[in-house]
Amino acid sequence: MYLTFYGLKEKPFNATPDPKFLYLTPGHREALAQLVYSVQENRGFLVLTGEVGTGKTTLLHAFLQRLNRVNGQTAVAYVFNTMLPFEDLLEYVLEELGVPTPPSSPAQRLLALRRFMLDRRRAGQNTVLILDEAQNLDPATLERIRMLSNLETPTEKLLQILLVGQPELRAKLNRPELRQLQQRIELQCGLAPLSREQVRDYIETRLRVAGARDLGLFSDRAQDRIAAYSRGIPRRVNILCDHCLVIGYAEHRRRIEVDTVDQAIAALAGAAQRPARRPASLARATWERWFLGAVAAALIAGIAVSPLRTEATQLLTFARHVRDLFLR
Ligand SMILES: Nc1ncnc2c1ncn2[C@@H]1O[C@H](COP(=O)(O)OP(=O)(O)O)[C@@H](O)[C@H]1O
Ligand SMILES: [Mg+2]
Repeated sequence: MYLTFYGLKEKPFNATPDPKFLYLTPGHREALAQLVYSVQENRGFLVLTGEVGTGKTTLLHAFLQRLNRVNGQTAVAYVFNTMLPFEDLLEYVLEELGVPTPPSSPAQRLLALRRFMLDRRRAGQNTVLILDEAQNLDPATLERIRMLSNLETPTEKLLQILLVGQPELRAKLNRPELRQLQQRIELQCGLAPLSREQVRDYIETRLRVAGARDLGLFSDRAQDRIAAYSRGIPRRVNILCDHCLVIGYAEHRRRIEVDTVDQAIAALAGAAQRPARRPASLARATWERWFLGAVAAALIAGIAVSPLRTEATQLLTFARHVRDLFLR
């Protein structure tokens, strides 16, 4: 493991959305502040979008921490499985909010949610529903989620709903059948990929949080190559940097130079390109498969009746080769 070699306390480029490692660009800072403010102000629908791997889920975790710090009273239902049908989704939300044994009929579930939120509101508390990966929600489910926001008092909303997803989410929300939801969106914010400079700061931030003594572990040229390859997507930066540290450690390199980055890129490209199956042009013809199959079967039968142990072992090895040819 490379941790000791590079003087790290933990892995700096893990793929988990741990908010401890959060690096805030001005855009991230703005989005986070807006989200916290909007929830405090009881705004209705909020939307956060960004490409895959730009840090939406990580930002959400930071948002939850901040909410608890500012106002330890917010009840949050965090849904990440957006493939669920609406009824299951509602059941999940009640469970998340700690509503005791959700009633079985859909109407009773809605009433239970309303009662819970009213009690909360009387105690001066907010309820927030977060739907991560919301681009997967089908329009009918989105429409029913909109109706949840109808659970309100004459003077204020009881539920803030935050939809988080990939850019397709915005396109989905623009569909004519969702125009009622569209009109209720009070905040839209987006996360952009990092610039070249930001990728450098990002790498440094993660190294610092992981306890690195040498924040210049990656040379300037290496960082530039990482920025170009990753196109500023933090998840891609993480995967590449982790590969670099594995290779660097194996080759006893104290500092990651651009050639190590190139090796890591080649390794990643190799992993991505390795075909899962033989291309059709190289696939064996059916008659070849039958022939090889018959040879393997005959050899195995030979082993079964062979009186000599060494001969049987040789035959078995040969049969395995034939079987491999058959399967390839
Ligand atoms: N601003 C950031 N600061 C620190 N780490 C980040 C940031 N953005 C993304 N990451 C890291 O990149 C990876 C992917 O982030 P994630 O939040 O899962 O992206 P998304 O939800 O947008 O697909 C995670 O390992 C996460 O920790
Ligand atoms: Mg995510």
